[in-house]
Amino acid sequence: MIATSKDSKTVVAGVNSTPDAPATVLIGAQWGDEGKGKWIDSLAADVDLVVRYQGGNNAGHTLYVDGKKIVLHQLPSGIFHEGQVSALAAGVVVNPAQLVIEMDKAAEFGVKLTPNRLWLSGRAHVITPWHIFLDEQRESRSHGAIGTTKRGIGPTYSDKAARTGLRLGHYIKSETRTRWVKQMRELHPEFNKVWADRSEAWAAFEAAAEKLAPFVTDAESNIRAAAREFKKILLEGAQGALLDIDHGTYPYVTSSTTGAAGACQSIGLSPHFIGQRLGIAKGYVTRVGAGPFPTELHDEIGKTLAAKGQEFGATTGRPRRVGWLDAVALRYVSEVNGLSGVILNKMDILTGLKEVKIAVAYRHPELGELREMPWDTEVLDACEPVYISMPGWQDQVPSSGRISDLPKAARDFVAAVEEHIGTPVLMVGTGPNRSDALYR
Ligand code: IMP
Repeated sequence: MIATSKDSKTVVAGVNSTPDAPATVLIGAQWGDEGKGKWIDSLAADVDLVVRYQGGNNAGHTLYVDGKKIVLHQLPSGIFHEGQVSALAAGVVVNPAQLVIEMDKAAEFGVKLTPNRLWLSGRAHVITPWHIFLDEQRESRSHGAIGTTKRGIGPTYSDKAARTGLRLGHYIKSETRTRWVKQMRELHPEFNKVWADRSEAWAAFEAAAEKLAPFVTDAESNIRAAAREFKKILLEGAQGALLDIDHGTYPYVTSSTTGAAGACQSIGLSPHFIGQRLGIAKGYVTRVGAGPFPTELHDEIGKTLAAKGQEFGATTGRPRRVGWLDAVALRYVSEVNGLSGVILNKMDILTGLKEVKIAVAYRHPELGELREMPWDTEVLDACEPVYISMPGWQDQVPSSGRISDLPKAARDFVAAVEEHIGTPVLMVGTGPNRSDALYR
C-alpha cells in the first residue's frame, strides 16, 4: 500500500513544519552515501537551525556551493546558509583538529562562524589520536575486520559507554584534559607509546582546544528552546539506517544510532517535536566496508553505475560496492524509522540502462522466500534477491520540475519503489547541484 495522499501533501518542496512539530529528521535510508549532503544543504534553506546528531568525521557530505565542491565530515551540511544556526549535539563524536580544519575551510567560502551561529555540545565525546590508533589496530586483525573508516569512531563510542571518555566541555579546559590523559596512562600501558609516536597528532589535538572553546555550550538546551519557540529545525543524520548499531546489519555497522530516534536521544528532544521523517535512498544501492549486501552486482552494470555515479567514499576514497535497489531493506528502514517520505536520489545515474531491477524479496537456501529483512546477518548473507525487472529509460531525466516530468519508464520505476516500500517518494534527485531536484 502506498501511504496516503495526506502524507505526501505535507512535504511538497522543502521542509514544512507544523507549529507542534517544528523538527524534520532526515536520515540515510541505506548503508550511507545516499547523497544526504546535497539534500540537507538544499532543505536547510528553509530552516532556522540544522543539528547533526550522531557519528563523527567518518561521514563525508559532499556539497557544491557556487559550483565549487566541498566535503564536510564534521560540520552540519547547512552551514552555508546565512543567518542560520548549526549545532553538533551530544550524540556526535568530534575530532577537534578536523573540526577546526573545516571551520577554516568554511571561512574560505565566506562563512563567518560565530558562537551565535555554531553550537557545539559540551556533552559530545572527543575522538583522540588514541582512539584512532585503537581503530587502526582492530581493523588490522586478520579476521573480523568491519572495514571501518579508521577514524576512531568505534573506540570513542566504546569509551563513552565504558564511562572513560572525554567530553568536549572537558576537553577544552586544559586541567580536565590533562586529567583524562593521566587516567588513560594509568588504564592502558600502551598509551605512552601512542603519545610518543603520534606527537604531531597530539599537538594538533591540543591546539584545537582554544579555537573550539568559544563555541562549546549547552547545545541541547538551546535546541529545545528553539523547538519550544517553533523555530524550524532540520535534524541531520549521518551514515545510513542499515549501519545503525541496533537495527543495522550488526556487526557490520557504525557505533551510533543512525536512525530517526537517534536525534531525540542525542538532543534530549521529545519525539513529539518531530513532524517529517525523511529517508534518502539512491535509485540503486552502495555500501563501503564489509557486510552482507544481497543485491550487490559484480558485472558490467555494477561497474557502469559505480563509474557514472562516482561511487568512491567521500571520507576514505575507497570504491563503493554497488547493487540494484533493495526494496526489502528500504521497506524495513521505512518501518523502523516511520518514514513519512523518501527522497530517491541519483536517478540520472540509471539513465541509459536497458533494464532496471528492484529486489522485492529474498530467497534463502533453507528458509525459502523471505519478504522481511532478517535480523540475523548470517541469514541475510546467505540470501539471494528476488527481482522484478522493468524496462529502462534512454531519455535524459529533467533536472528540475515535477516527478511527473520523468520519462514514463522512470515514472514506472518510482511507482514500483513506492508500491514495494509502502512509502511515498516525495522528491527525486537528478544531479549533483542543489537545483537538480524534482518534486511531487
Ligand atoms: P566506522 O563508522 O568508521 O566505525 O565504520 C563502520 C562501518 O560504517 C564501515 O562499514 C564503514 O564503511 C561504514 N561507514 C561509516 N561512515 C560511513 C559513511 O559516511 N558512509 C558510508 N559508510 C560509512
